[in-house]
Amino acid sequence: MIDHSPRYHFHPPANWMNDPNGLIYWKGQYHLFYQYNPHGPFHGTIHWGHAVSPDLLRWTHLPLALAPTPGGFDEAGCWSGCAFDRDGVPTLMYTGLRIGSTADSWIEVQCLATGSDDLWTWTKGRANPVIPAPPPGLDIVGFRDPYVWREDEGWACVVGSGIRGSGGTVLLYRSADAVCWDYVGPLWTRDADATEPPWTGSMWECPQFFALGDRHVLIFSIWDEGKTYYTAYAVGHYNDDRFTPRVVRRFDLGPEYYAPAVMRDEHGRLLVWGWLREGRRKAARREDGWSGVMSLPRVLSLDDDDRLQVAPADELRALGGDHYHVDSLDVDAVAPHQMPVVNGECVEIIAEFDLLKSDARSFGLLVRCAPQREEYTAIVYDSVACTLTVDREHASVAPTSYRGAYTATAASEDGALVALHVFLDCSVVEVYLNHCSCLTERIYPTRADSQGVVVFARDGRAHLRTLDLWQMKKIRVDDGTDTNSHGR
Ligand code: FRU
Repeated sequence: MIDHSPRYHFHPPANWMNDPNGLIYWKGQYHLFYQYNPHGPFHGTIHWGHAVSPDLLRWTHLPLALAPTPGGFDEAGCWSGCAFDRDGVPTLMYTGLRIGSTADSWIEVQCLATGSDDLWTWTKGRANPVIPAPPPGLDIVGFRDPYVWREDEGWACVVGSGIRGSGGTVLLYRSADAVCWDYVGPLWTRDADATEPPWTGSMWECPQFFALGDRHVLIFSIWDEGKTYYTAYAVGHYNDDRFTPRVVRRFDLGPEYYAPAVMRDEHGRLLVWGWLREGRRKAARREDGWSGVMSLPRVLSLDDDDRLQVAPADELRALGGDHYHVDSLDVDAVAPHQMPVVNGECVEIIAEFDLLKSDARSFGLLVRCAPQREEYTAIVYDSVACTLTVDREHASVAPTSYRGAYTATAASEDGALVALHVFLDCSVVEVYLNHCSCLTERIYPTRADSQGVVVFARDGRAHLRTLDLWQMKKIRVDDGTDTNSHGR
């Protein structure tokens, strides 16, 4: 049986994982918390898992940070939230969940926990829940996932929500001490029926709101009628308690990236991790005993057109092992180029195509390709439509794997070059296009020989300027402790 669990993407040893939470750089280490169910590979009894890394490459699992308190305001789950340094005291703010009077109604409240100096143990605050109910008089859909930041006069926080009959919103709160919170108003609301794409649904989960240079960015994940969709972002200005976006766009362009969370590190970089859902049916997840992995850490920046750009963190270069290089090569439909890859499951590829020396309608890479193409995933640039497609229709013959192709509009950076930067890690495909956007998918090839990497062109000739391919090493993950038991 093929092991689909990634080797250099972070994930817990077993069971269910969803959103990254409470990312914080603390005393020289990256702390990553995440939504975790210790009881199986399905969403339920949500705890906060915890891991730490000095360098984004070596991770140690630490004791679970938060567990539901029986009979408490979070008895049904410690849902998503954030971490912050409250004047020297490490602090988590998260959503506590209880089931309401009917099994499908939820009571969501916002809670605090404070940490020991090494962040190993967390104590829930006596004042909990610090935000015990949604703002009175607002008819809302959902009330969760607090995100806190420092302001001149104290603390501010947004909570993800939706205004019934209107659309997604984030609710703004302020506090002098991060314990007593006052409701200010909606920071920004967008109509679910807005004619301009992207559609942003009726409720927003996991808002992340931060300054990037002289602009502000809101990243949010779209929930509607009980279903989760994709992640979007808005860029604009923040003043007088309102956020006024100039643009709203999709974030990662693939189907499985959701609920990202950001962190600023000691270098001033803004790093983002997202939850990569499974692209396969529940039966397959149950059989394997795990579900959900973390994306690679990506660095955020803004360009002059208010585009939120992502690039893989530089540290990942250290994972590159055996290296293959190709220079100046023409490919067409009759002469594709097969790379001499030993293990196509775990590779990084940077391929630069020269548009000025190409007349092919489309070109790109086939990855995880079986010898007779019984299985393959196609990464295709269409030079007429200027789109990138990651097509997993033939990625796997397993009936439990999701299929389909996902396309993103993507003009080349300077009209001359198309740069595909691809990370393959067992069931994960992350494709960065022209050093700015990313499309992530999950694939589950069934054959041991679905390993090939092929450069191809259709309807003409494509000129490959350079291609670099590295075999990727595993990240080191130590079981610092048993994550299945609560550390207190
Ligand atoms: C997003 C989300 C959050 C919630 C958490 C529960 O994936 O639904 O809104 O807090 O997951 O696990």
